[in-house]
Amino acid sequence: MKAWTLDSTDTALRLEEVPDPEVRSGAAVLRMLAVQVPAYTRVLTIGGRGGIATPTVLGIGGIGRVVHVADDVHSVRPGDIALCTGFLQSGRIAEPEEVLLGWTGIGGRGARTSTTDSMRRVWRTGTFAERTLMPASTLVALPGAERYPDVARLAFLPWLSVAAGAVERSDLTAGDRLVITGASGQLGGAAVLLALARGVGAIAAVGRDQKSLERLAALDPRVRPVRSVGDRTADAAAIVAALGGEADVAVDALGPAPSADLTMAAFDALRLDGTMVLLGGVRQVLPIPYDELMHRRITLRGSWMASNEIAFAVWRQIAAGVLDLSALEVETARLDDPEAVLARAEKTHGLGFVALLP
Ligand SMILES: NC(=O)c1ccc[n+]([C@@H]2O[C@H](COP(=O)([O-])OP(=O)(O)OC[C@H]3O[C@@H](n4cnc5c(N)ncnc54)[C@H](OP(=O)(O)O)[C@@H]3O)[C@@H](O)[C@H]2O)c1
Repeated sequence: MKAWTLDSTDTALRLEEVPDPEVRSGAAVLRMLAVQVPAYTRVLTIGGRGGIATPTVLGIGGIGRVVHVADDVHSVRPGDIALCTGFLQSGRIAEPEEVLLGWTGIGGRGARTSTTDSMRRVWRTGTFAERTLMPASTLVALPGAERYPDVARLAFLPWLSVAAGAVERSDLTAGDRLVITGASGQLGGAAVLLALARGVGAIAAVGRDQKSLERLAALDPRVRPVRSVGDRTADAAAIVAALGGEADVAVDALGPAPSADLTMAAFDALRLDGTMVLLGGVRQVLPIPYDELMHRRITLRGSWMASNEIAFAVWRQIAAGVLDLSALEVETARLDDPEAVLARAEKTHGLGFVALLP
């Protein structure tokens, strides 16, 4: 089969003919139908987002049709359309460990252990390929997805699920005022869609890219675009003004920003008893005064990846028409030229993304 392989972060991502994955105990083989190519994939392939277990077929997430299922697997059945999450958990309750397959990412404190090494050694079959082999625990059957009119749009389901993990942890309820920093990104855009489906009262959608902000504003009058000016005080004031008051909830979905200022602007804009969830890829130390966190009774939470139950709940919302994917601007691509596709993906923003149709 054809696949995108990465030998190391010093070599280019290549289109290669590789052996078809064979089903083995605890796993299933899927024919990939649609896989999102995240905007930062090119940077990731050159080591810009942490270590990758190489050599590997690259690619996380995606929608596929199940073709072979091991005898001991019952979560998916041949013929199912299923979501690949790529999120593998060790299952050891006492000392849980988590990794991403075909991608960068080790959960917890991010440090490699013999367990994470072993988990990443046995699964090198990412989803940027015609077929993939995935552990059953990372697959979610999507009943009814075969009737969904445009499978390329469903390639956004993994990103929606990850964003839904954060929205879930924020306890956002109908009518709430929400600020999303990095709303102009793909994860932030996903969070906007989910919050609208959940009945949010108003969203301050904060970002820099004007086109992405305009696209978000066109979704619904509850979305109020806020263009960051890069000044913490001014950004916080603009968020409060856009919401007509302080925020109940903040979700930070920023990429690796050079300072913590924009994240802290959202923190500053939170009301007493507000909740902030960190979802993005900021690699900065947050200067949070102890007494402020205490006196304002702020709940600060992290959110990494999402449970299969959350992913399934997102699919149910899509299937029911509650979560509308019509606003997504999907560019499709084939496997032929990885470098060209990564370059196209890098130009995508927010609700626009590249869906690989292997
Ligand atoms: N928690 C999890 O489970 C999880 C899962 C997957 C990914 N992530 C992380 O989430 C992050 C966002 O992912 P994504 O796919 O949404 O990335 P993305 O599409 O590249 O979006 C990045 C966002 O950050 C903003 N941004 C970047 N640098 C900035 C700066 N210097 N100042 C202000 N804004 C800045 C961008 O604003 P403009 O576009 O307006 O410039 C955009 O809104 C990534 O870094 C990724 O590592 C987390």
